[in-house]
Amino acid sequence: MNYTVVLPAAGSGKRMKADRNKLLLELSGKPIFIYTLEVFDRDPNCEGMWLAVKDGERQLIEEYVERYEIKKVKGYAIGGAERQDSVRAGLEMAGPCEVVLVHDAARPFISPSVITELVEQANQSGAAIAGVPVKDTIKKVQGGLITETVDRSSLWMIQTPQAFRYELLLQAAQLAQAEAFLGTDEAMLVERTGHPVQVVESTYENVKMTTPDDLIYGQAILASRLQ
Ligand code: CTP
Ligand code: MG
Repeated sequence: MNYTVVLPAAGSGKRMKADRNKLLLELSGKPIFIYTLEVFDRDPNCEGMWLAVKDGERQLIEEYVERYEIKKVKGYAIGGAERQDSVRAGLEMAGPCEVVLVHDAARPFISPSVITELVEQANQSGAAIAGVPVKDTIKKVQGGLITETVDRSSLWMIQTPQAFRYELLLQAAQLAQAEAFLGTDEAMLVERTGHPVQVVESTYENVKMTTPDDLIYGQAILASRLQ
């Protein structure tokens, strides 16, 4: 099953505390977001990529895309203040298509088989997102004191990719915009329309490069892949 992918890349990476957008930081000499684009460039089912970028970074990002010979980038949308705005801008440019995947450019280690599974599930049921079971004990804490130990057996850490039938996600994103609802992921926007969302088990390697320690982990993942 073919799909189109929207990649939000218009953040600033404040938690990374670098001097530039974290996506431009390098792992083994290559910018983080290029690893992400390469996964989709190599996937025969990927029909095209749409990147949401900051206006001021578009030229630089385009130069990298050319330098690394990424073939499937179809276009660039200008991102907004919130990730949700960037995704919506990308979606509006990307469609119409049957299945669309939204994937953070900051997750370079996504597994190709998880992408395939998500696309199949979204084609069948409309909405499927990647996640992994929570590993740690989770407690609610207020003022330094535990108020509750949460049963973790049903808790999952949610990632991207998140895959949807295009019309379902576009309508959910436009409804959220009209109602000034801000969600933390695409699934939240679809959940509030009442449409069920499936969760597909992903890998712990599909970590988002968010804080400086994630770069150490990312470097280790790359090293392990060379063995
Ligand atoms: N993103 C975006 N537009 C925004 C904010 C984020 O396209 N207004 C993108 C980021 O570039 C990233 C993905 O959404 O690829 C996930 O967001 P996050 O990890 O939070 O990245 P940043 O917002 O850049 O980082 P921070 O929250 O630490 O500032
Ligand atoms: Mg952010």
